[in-house]
Amino acid sequence: MKYKEFGPTGVKTSSIGMGTYYDPFWIITARLGWLRNAKRKIQSLKAGLEAGINIIDTAELYGSEPLVRKAIEGYEREKIFLSTKVWPTHLKRDKLFKSLEKSLERLGTKYVDLYLIHFPGSNHSNKEALLAMEDAVASGLIKFIGLSNFNLKGIEEARKTLKKNDIVSIQNQYNILHREPEKDLLPYCEKEKIAFMAYYPLAHGKLTKDSKVLEVSRKFNINPAQLALVWLLRWSSVFPIPRASRPEHVIEDAKAADVEIPHEILEKI
Ligand SMILES: NC(=O)c1ccc[n+]([C@@H]2O[C@H](COP(=O)([O-])OP(=O)(O)OC[C@H]3O[C@@H](n4cnc5c(N)ncnc54)[C@H](OP(=O)(O)O)[C@@H]3O)[C@@H](O)[C@H]2O)c1
Repeated sequence: MKYKEFGPTGVKTSSIGMGTYYDPFWIITARLGWLRNAKRKIQSLKAGLEAGINIIDTAELYGSEPLVRKAIEGYEREKIFLSTKVWPTHLKRDKLFKSLEKSLERLGTKYVDLYLIHFPGSNHSNKEALLAMEDAVASGLIKFIGLSNFNLKGIEEARKTLKKNDIVSIQNQYNILHREPEKDLLPYCEKEKIAFMAYYPLAHGKLTKDSKVLEVSRKFNINPAQLALVWLLRWSSVFPIPRASRPEHVIEDAKAADVEIPHEILEKI
């Protein structure tokens, strides 16, 4: 596993993280208290930790925070970089603190490393949430602040709103089939030293079955998931967060961090 500084935080994390969004049906059943295939999902997260991954991404929406709690049991908390997210209906100060408190309880931790606004709300509610998040940083409940699914204008506005902190990370979709962030967000993150957490790095699994990706990956003796991940890692600001609910998948994904493929080939893809 390769490690690198996560944005401007001074914290070194694995260059690949683990996502924990399963599917909409899983979210509904989790709300009803039924965590389907929980054992295997926890085993997968543990396999990732053993393989050197230390970023775990979740959200109050996903219903997966209790699984993350089980997976990190027995590990030194400081060695793990946990990120969770607040849903846009909870951006008012009191609601945000309630959401955060519940996330911490479900995760069984006193703090999260990164707290992100999951989707932008109105300008006013984003501002209220960001100022509340600064207070949460001051009280030690979160270490760093991030944004998910914001465009460049929204990111710049958020950075202006913050008084004592800065945005250390954004989390947006990026993969071989969805290259929009290359227009503005990625160059911005590289320049400003902001960590770009790439979600859907495998296009929700599609890339693992893509014939062209398969063809190139065979040439390098790797599997398509690894090619899709190493392709993302050509940007120093990018931290892909693939989700894998099977231990064998997580182990393969973790190995992608050490794959070397000539830059010209990655650019051609
Ligand atoms: N901020 C946001 O709005 C947002 C939105 C969506 C997602 N996310 C985050 O991003 C994470 C990743 O997105 P995602 O889970 O939707 O999609 P993804 O990581 O692009 O793809 C997940 C799919 O790829 C499969 N897979 C993983 N490794 C594989 C391997 N080595 N070989 C073959 N198949 C493999 C998984 O199978 P198995 O599960 O069967 O192992 C799963 O079906 C989420 O879990 C979540 O944390 C954030």
